[in-house]
Amino acid sequence: MKHHAVFVCQACGAAHAKWAGRCESCGEWNAIVEEAPSSNAPGGLSAGRSRGGGRKVDFVTLAGESAQAPRRVSGIAELDRVLGGGLVPGAAVLIGGDPGIGKSTLLLQAAAALSTKVPGTCAYISGEEAIDQVRLRAARLGLEAAPVSLAAATSVRDLIASLDRPDAPGTVVIDSIQTMYVDTLDSAPGTVAQVRASAQELIRLAKQRGFSLLLVGHVTKEGMIAGPKVLEHMVDTVLTFEGERGHQFRILRATKNRFGPTDEIGVFEMTDSGLTEVANPSALFLAERSGEVAGAAVFAGIEGTRPVLVEIQALVAPSALGTPRRAVVGWDSGRLAMVIAVLEARCGLVLAGRDVYLNVAGGLRIGEPAADLAVAAALVSAASDRPVPAQSVVFGEIGLSGEVRAVSQSDARLKEAAKLGFTQAFLPSPRGKAQRSSSGIERRDIGHLQDLLAALADPVRSSRAAEVI
Ligand code: TYD
Ligand code: MG
Repeated sequence: MKHHAVFVCQACGAAHAKWAGRCESCGEWNAIVEEAPSSNAPGGLSAGRSRGGGRKVDFVTLAGESAQAPRRVSGIAELDRVLGGGLVPGAAVLIGGDPGIGKSTLLLQAAAALSTKVPGTCAYISGEEAIDQVRLRAARLGLEAAPVSLAAATSVRDLIASLDRPDAPGTVVIDSIQTMYVDTLDSAPGTVAQVRASAQELIRLAKQRGFSLLLVGHVTKEGMIAGPKVLEHMVDTVLTFEGERGHQFRILRATKNRFGPTDEIGVFEMTDSGLTEVANPSALFLAERSGEVAGAAVFAGIEGTRPVLVEIQALVAPSALGTPRRAVVGWDSGRLAMVIAVLEARCGLVLAGRDVYLNVAGGLRIGEPAADLAVAAALVSAASDRPVPAQSVVFGEIGLSGEVRAVSQSDARLKEAAKLGFTQAFLPSPRGKAQRSSSGIERRDIGHLQDLLAALADPVRSSRAAEVI
């Protein structure tokens, strides 16, 4: 029987009868590669073929003894926490982020930290920069003495030849996966087929030799990790390194993690001598606050396991446009539209014909619905030109009828606020019996959005109802 060659799109997996520059099913360019036809006709394995041949699979129960994967701790606490307690041997981690955000800096610092602990355990492969450039950066970071094995290489075949040995390093950093190429493919480095094939080879080797693989991935203009989406499926952990260009804060976030939580963040500050860990992000995010101004509210949020306080700023201005602008930085624009609609429909606040701008200070991105009430407070304060009382924090989720719902971990939020010197909190009424805590914060229960408007309009009268907890 004659086998015809098949042409498979490396981005979506569609099979074509002949080669084409563009895949008809997903539209990807340069992703179609000739593959050897599989030896089985469709339906082959079970149909027709002799029974037996395959080995019996052993089924086990869900309960059982499995050794916990040992972790390689880098000593950079913010990185280790986001990874779920350190690097896992044999696992692959993809780190994405905008150009110039600090991926190479972070990984060089991690490589230096890891290899200082156990010399010779970390290899840093640079495909983007020459040896001299990496050395210059190391000197700038004061890390030139760290025993990192440095190489500039882009051929995956060369890397496999150097790393496929029993004494392979414990951690391998590839900066970046878009510069690597497999010489059996014709397409240029950085194309979907090359990125996928290179990552596949390196990940296979990492599993086989038990080293932790750290891959740097570029991000496209749309903010996606460049290359096939399959890259994110192939690795065990996907981290994104984000931050605003003008700010010195950098946030490392796990968006996928087979070995740990995905809602954890690590906060860094970019300084002249590299990235430094920020152990207390709230203090940093609130550092530039300027007392009582209208349109600002401090949100007591939770990122991963840590409470983080951040200022939410709103500006409401008369609009010159037929359709007023609603611009958001750091929060979901759909959620802002909802809060505005609830304020208009349930509380009679008029924002039609006025532009609304919302900004989360410090470059943080908030995903928690608990920020609803803080956004509402900032909007009400901006619209009425009355400041939210200084030294107060706000949190709570808003429902469509204007009711304010309880959120999780309110105790942790209050404790963090008290630690930073805040004295009162606008928060949802407690479900059932209120838990007494010793945070010493004056508690302003908000059951409905109208209570918030009343409290902001007349802070003295409504504070009589307040209760210190
Ligand atoms: P880099 O790690 O090269 O970013 P990426 O690999 O994500 O493209 O970071 C480059 C930026 O960081 C560059 O604009 C300079 C700045 N930087 C510092 O501010 N301090 C430092 O100590 C270093 C090494 C870089
Ligand atoms: Mg770089």
